[in-house]
Amino acid sequence: MISRSLLVASLVTQALGIAPYTIQLQSRVAPKDATLRRRALNPVTVPLADFFLGTDLQWFGNISVGTPPQDVSVVFDTGSSTLEFASTMCGSACDNQVKFDYQKSSTFVDKKTTSSITFATGVGVDPVIGSNYKLTLRAATDTVTVGNLSAKNVALFLITNQTPKFSINPFSGIQGMGARAQGIFAALISQGLPSIFSLYVTPQAVGNAELTIGGIDSTKFNGSLTYAPNNDRGSDTWSLLSPQIFVNGKSTSTLKRSRDVIFDSGTSNILFDTTTTEAIYSLISPQIKPHTSEKGTYGIACDLIPTLPAVIDLGFKDVNGKAFNLTIPSSELSVGPFADAPQTCQTLINAFDGLDLVGGSVLKHYYSVWDVGAQRMGFAATGI
Ligand SMILES: *[C@@H]1O[C@H](CO)[C@@H](O)[C@H](O)[C@H]1NC(C)=O
Ligand SMILES: *[C@@H]1O[C@H](CO)[C@@H](O)[C@H](O)[C@H]1NC(C)=O
Ligand SMILES: *[C@@H]1O[C@H](CO)[C@@H](O)[C@H](O)[C@H]1NC(C)=O
Ligand SMILES: *[C@@H]1O[C@H](CO)[C@@H](O)[C@H](O)[C@H]1NC(C)=O
Repeated sequence: MISRSLLVASLVTQALGIAPYTIQLQSRVAPKDATLRRRALNPVTVPLADFFLGTDLQWFGNISVGTPPQDVSVVFDTGSSTLEFASTMCGSACDNQVKFDYQKSSTFVDKKTTSSITFATGVGVDPVIGSNYKLTLRAATDTVTVGNLSAKNVALFLITNQTPKFSINPFSGIQGMGARAQGIFAALISQGLPSIFSLYVTPQAVGNAELTIGGIDSTKFNGSLTYAPNNDRGSDTWSLLSPQIFVNGKSTSTLKRSRDVIFDSGTSNILFDTTTTEAIYSLISPQIKPHTSEKGTYGIACDLIPTLPAVIDLGFKDVNGKAFNLTIPSSELSVGPFADAPQTCQTLINAFDGLDLVGGSVLKHYYSVWDVGAQRMGFAATGI
């Protein structure tokens, strides 16, 4: 689950096919009308725990499902759009996770259709490009609650089987938070919740990570938010157009190529095409080399890591066309030793042709606002 890139890619295609740019988004923006304003819901904040295995992997928190409510821990994932979690329909494959017991919920409705999702890579630090991260799902609806906000008949999927790599998760599922509100978030917006959510996903040593749904927790940053337009309007994807990348203050012709960078809170590593990945690494150290046993990964002797400056500035333009950078500090360079080569540390960018995608290694250093109604993302430095 470190990378959900294949899922993102397939959702993009699907979304463009079935739902071209619609006015749904506009109609979900909280109207300024007084009678409607009276019904407006207040934002809620959900604390998030960090799944840390030598490096920050995922941030997850509780929602509750069913009547009476059962706690379900999920990763809030801006790289996907649906809600899926382990259930008592899943046998021993889900034994390491808390399973939702659908038979104990009086509001549960089994839709009986089945499907599956295959992920590009798995839960650990060494990503494996392949199809061995798969969830088998069964469609259903039930009441879902986030903080103190509830909606009835929310579409969801019970995990009925999964490949072993998923069972080491300390969480039970995934709540998609794509750029078109769906499921619980769409239902709350139609009840009057502002169509915005915010993430404060911090490194383990800092803690206090949280999701605010329906608003912004302005106690988490000083200064103002810089907003940039979502570049993938009308799809589920959150992305910004980046005209340039700098590494230790330098750039190259490859890095001056404009690119669509997807923002995925469910991914801890960075994915760039091979040419970009190697252009970035060549400005950090010629000793960063492909780690051939894990396709797409790169590594360097762990003892060299502290000596390397590796500041990556991702350049973007705000809603007024003004340039700004999101900066990844040198502390993100290593994501920890390879299991099959403990003296070699994996570096933060994986080569993956056809996709440019960033996640936790950027989001950890900013308070981020995901504005579904206005189709823009906001960032404020947290000093972390
Ligand atoms: C989720 O709820 C359980 C109790 O059901 C609690 O033990 C756990 O700490 C909660 N997790 C988070 C991330 O808040
Ligand atoms: C949820 O709790 C917040 C305060 O924590 C409060 O402002 C809000 O009105 C509550 N919402 C509902 C629907 O009870
Ligand atoms: C904001 O600035 C004040 C004063 O310098 C400081 O005490 C506070 O910790 C800062 N808050 C954040 C969230 O950085
Ligand atoms: C972005 O970072 C680069 C390299 O450090 C720097 O030259 C440039 O001035 C920065 N841009 C802004 C708008 O701060």
